[in-house]
Amino acid sequence: CRIVVLISGSGSNLQAVLDDLTGADAPAEVVAVISNKAEAYGLERARSAGIPTRTLDHRSFADRAAYDQALIEQIDTFAPDLVLLAGFMRILTANFVTHFHGRLLNIHPSLLPKYKGLQTHQRALDAGDAEAGASIHFVTEELDGGPLVLQGRVVIHPDDDADSLATRVQQQEHRLYPLVVRWFASGRLRLINGLASLDGAPI
Ligand code: GRF
Repeated sequence: CRIVVLISGSGSNLQAVLDDLTGADAPAEVVAVISNKAEAYGLERARSAGIPTRTLDHRSFADRAAYDQALIEQIDTFAPDLVLLAGFMRILTANFVTHFHGRLLNIHPSLLPKYKGLQTHQRALDAGDAEAGASIHFVTEELDGGPLVLQGRVVIHPDDDADSLATRVQQQEHRLYPLVVRWFASGRLRLINGLASLDGAPI
């Protein structure tokens, strides 16, 4: 299974996936890492792992449609079976999402459908929630709204702030994404009739 990972920042989820796929018997391979930001630390992580990197700066394009078309073409040069959004901080066009239908996953730092978009941890704290977490989902046109694959939960402590909560949620993320990648790579996870399915049964 050939994987392209899209990032904008630190790339700690990218690292978790890379670390999980090191053995000779790994079921998948990250074949490229693409960032919209040249300074993204995740590009360093990829280079350290000997993985090809590309930067496609959205500021060089006239509009979102032009950027996403160029991104599609860049990704397709690596012929991926799976594209992972791992902290890629861009809203994607319908054209992009349709092109990668069924092979595009995202990780989001909330227990979806709660808290789509940004500032998820502060919003969970402000709401007085007892728990927070992360979600992996297939990407569809609706922002953070595609079929759910897997969630990880953490208890919110009375003394938590957005940073402390983010740290604990990220520990969950780093556990979840490699697992889901393995499910997909082994053919267990598929998008069937708009539903995420594991071993042929809707999740
Ligand atoms: C993660 O919290 C992820 O849920 C969100 O962006 C963050 C990326 O972190 N979409 P990293 O770049 O993987 O460290």
